[in-house]
Amino acid sequence: MKEARYKILFFFIAFMALLSLYSCSNQTSTIPEEGVKYLIGVSQPNLNEPWRVVLNDEIKRDAGAYPDLRVIFTDGGNDSKQQEEDLHKLVGYGIDLLIISLDDPILLTPTITEIYEKIPVIVLGRGVTGYDYTLYIGTDNRLIGSKAAGYAKQLLEAGDNRVVEILGLKGSPTVDERSEGFREALTDRKDIVIAESLYADWQRDKSEDLLLETLGKDTDIDLIFAHNDAMALGASIALKKKGITDVKIIGVDGIKGDNGGLNLVKDGTLTGTFTSPTGGGEAIRYAVDILNNEKGIPKKIIVRSHPITKDNINEFGEPESVSKVKPIRQVTEAAPIKIGFAQVGLESGWRLAHTNSVIHAAKEEGIELLYENALQQQDKQIDSIRKFIALKVDFIVFSPLVKTGWDVVLQEAKQAGIPVILSDREVKVSDDSLWTAYIGSDFVEEGRRAARWLTQEMGESPEQVNIVELQGTKDSDPAVGRKVGFEEIIKDERGYQIVQSLQGDFTLENGKQLMLEALDQHGEDIDVVYSHNDDMALGAIQAIEQYGLKPGKDIKIISIDATRAALKALGTGKLNFVVECNPLLGPQLMKAVKDYMAGKELPMKIITSEGVFTQDTAKRALARREY
Ligand code: AHR
Repeated sequence: MKEARYKILFFFIAFMALLSLYSCSNQTSTIPEEGVKYLIGVSQPNLNEPWRVVLNDEIKRDAGAYPDLRVIFTDGGNDSKQQEEDLHKLVGYGIDLLIISLDDPILLTPTITEIYEKIPVIVLGRGVTGYDYTLYIGTDNRLIGSKAAGYAKQLLEAGDNRVVEILGLKGSPTVDERSEGFREALTDRKDIVIAESLYADWQRDKSEDLLLETLGKDTDIDLIFAHNDAMALGASIALKKKGITDVKIIGVDGIKGDNGGLNLVKDGTLTGTFTSPTGGGEAIRYAVDILNNEKGIPKKIIVRSHPITKDNINEFGEPESVSKVKPIRQVTEAAPIKIGFAQVGLESGWRLAHTNSVIHAAKEEGIELLYENALQQQDKQIDSIRKFIALKVDFIVFSPLVKTGWDVVLQEAKQAGIPVILSDREVKVSDDSLWTAYIGSDFVEEGRRAARWLTQEMGESPEQVNIVELQGTKDSDPAVGRKVGFEEIIKDERGYQIVQSLQGDFTLENGKQLMLEALDQHGEDIDVVYSHNDDMALGAIQAIEQYGLKPGKDIKIISIDATRAALKALGTGKLNFVVECNPLLGPQLMKAVKDYMAGKELPMKIITSEGVFTQDTAKRALARREY
């Protein structure tokens, strides 16, 4: 096996010489003679964007920490077909894992899916369509766009304001998201008009040329938002050539180096920029964990973007690193890390598993955990957080009952210098720096998965499919997200209708009572129950049986969580489909806490990896089910 690999590596050396004819700057690590355990392929669409060069540098730097790891880099030279060929070549070399960043998801997704069937795939920065990858690491591009708009609104006084948006490559999801976020957030300022949108393909020179052309017709511009710093620099060159000095320029990336955003803000070329961390270092660390079959690998990591302006540039230090987090204190046996955990309640089997996972993981890591249970009351949960602030814990961890109403208490935590980690549910607050990280599920995707199964199972129904929805706690993150995701899919399908949507609280008793109400009103007309969690679905099963119908047959039931009880009900045919929501968040939470204490900046969001279960797959899964 090893011998075969060295042969392949030998051919690889020869091949790379050839490959460099195709791509302008392929780079290879020194090919090892022996001691190589893992070979990682890194495929980039081009290397003329500075962000991409930094990405490769970070990968090289962090891969250096693993002597048995070798990395092969390819560069598609701005040609998606070339990148597709590079992918096949990398697989041919026998890579054990692929790291890819791409510009053309439509062309490349099928190839990536094919590769993912054989080896793990980490996607960086710019996404593929669908979920056929092991891990995605990137920024929240919509949020970057909306933050850029927020900053533009601060910079532009009320009046007649004209903005030019300089975008990356047309059709790239990153571009669409940044642009949508930017435009949406500007809608409340009718005096700001986007006068021109220029697609400059992420390239400095193209941005300069296009803007020069625009300025030839019209020089009335107040602000430029460029989707990266390279294009922002191109725009500044064009303005200079035309002798225009009073235009504000906002970029994205904030990387180090001569023409990096950090320096461009420092020397006044840009008014501000938003960091877009490459995730290269994280990718290598996770790649090693994946290759070593470590448990608990997330599905998505969303890295945090920071604004950089003249006012805060010094906080970022010399542009070696843009991490703002410093070690908090020395952790010792006598002074262990102390977490205050404000749990939302004990409403469901899922919640019990979540609580146990956090308590157990803290114990395993020698972390002191103070636990409070709010019994589904927001006031109580706020009191617990205040108590933890007074106790000067190192971290506050909480699963918010509902999305809103946390600004004041989180501001108090921030003032006390205590980082807050949201475990399992997100909040909606005016300032996202009020919390440090979110670890949990993608609830919207869970809702989509439930609806996708239903529409595939029933097909295009000639008759109307009547759905009863049992919602979780009003305004809670999972209830909102699961509803949005489900409706997003069924709205495009003919014949699917939610005939009744009842507000519940995630408990079995409540699920039963709501289902009895629904049966009372719609009786045998109900075709499907979509329950936001297992406990309510199990309650609905009892109600349907009490009514004299057969759950799973007369009425199909879809649920979310995948507890043992639900998998058993799937196995006996009383439930039809279950979407997994992973409560075992303790280990990832403790890892995040330790990383933070060690001075690492935490990702903004760590989204867990989750699956789905049918009646056929439930029985086998049950044997290994931990909750
Ligand atoms: O926030 C996660 C949800 O909360 C679970 O799906 C539900 O069972 C729980 O109570």
